[in-house]
Amino acid sequence: MNIIAVKNYEEMSKKAAEFIIDTVKTKPNAVLGMATGGTAVGTYKCLIQDFNQNKTSYKQAYTVNLDEYIGIDPEHEQSYHTYMDNHLFQHIDLPKNHQYIPNGNAKNLEAECKRYEEAIEALGGVDLQILGIGHNGHIGFNEPGTSFDSKTQVVELAESTRKANARFFEDLNEVPTQAITMGIATILKSKKILLLVSGKGKAEILQKLLTCDITESIPATALKKHPNVTIIADKEALSFLADTEMKVRMSV
Ligand code: F6R
Repeated sequence: MNIIAVKNYEEMSKKAAEFIIDTVKTKPNAVLGMATGGTAVGTYKCLIQDFNQNKTSYKQAYTVNLDEYIGIDPEHEQSYHTYMDNHLFQHIDLPKNHQYIPNGNAKNLEAECKRYEEAIEALGGVDLQILGIGHNGHIGFNEPGTSFDSKTQVVELAESTRKANARFFEDLNEVPTQAITMGIATILKSKKILLLVSGKGKAEILQKLLTCDITESIPATALKKHPNVTIIADKEALSFLADTEMKVRMSV
């Protein structure tokens, strides 16, 4: 895993956006794997800024989102459909029918998971997958204990994940208990992966990820099996790393 150390959230977002823009410029019909959550918001802001200033086009590109809550409408203000629309899609020229997000309201959820997995394959797989990380090491909504062989699946959200995401809802009771998420195997099939980590709150899990062996109890450690992962982490997120020499080398 390559690590790019940056000063703060803004720099992390700018760097991540550069990766995405480079990917689309090199391959206009690239398939971009998208994350939601607080970490990715700044990256999408930078993409919009670049779209307005430099006219980078997404007309031929595709996006596939990692996950969606089960049991709320796509129109719900906290659905990931709405998140992507508000934070990115309505501001760029990505065609509507190139935007893939699991349908958390499907009648047959198992069939929806299968359909989503096949849709990603039919697109030729993900060229660049953006990831955030949960405090418990989840990637997508694959909580600790998830099999590394998992494909797109229905999952129960960990109580800590629901609590972390309650900041976006009026009340903890409103946070869905289940989601559809790309599995770990689905994520690992991506050609290139970019993990974004920012803030003190993520320092402990980032330290664990970088120092622990590969284990299903920390889902993000699966990334160590992938040949092309870049972590962009800011100074606060890197603050639990004991190896000061490494920090100096990374010029944090
Ligand atoms: C989002 C996702 C999650 C988040 C993670 C971090 O689509 O799959 O894994 O990336 O929960 O969330 P934030 O960025 O809000 O800290």
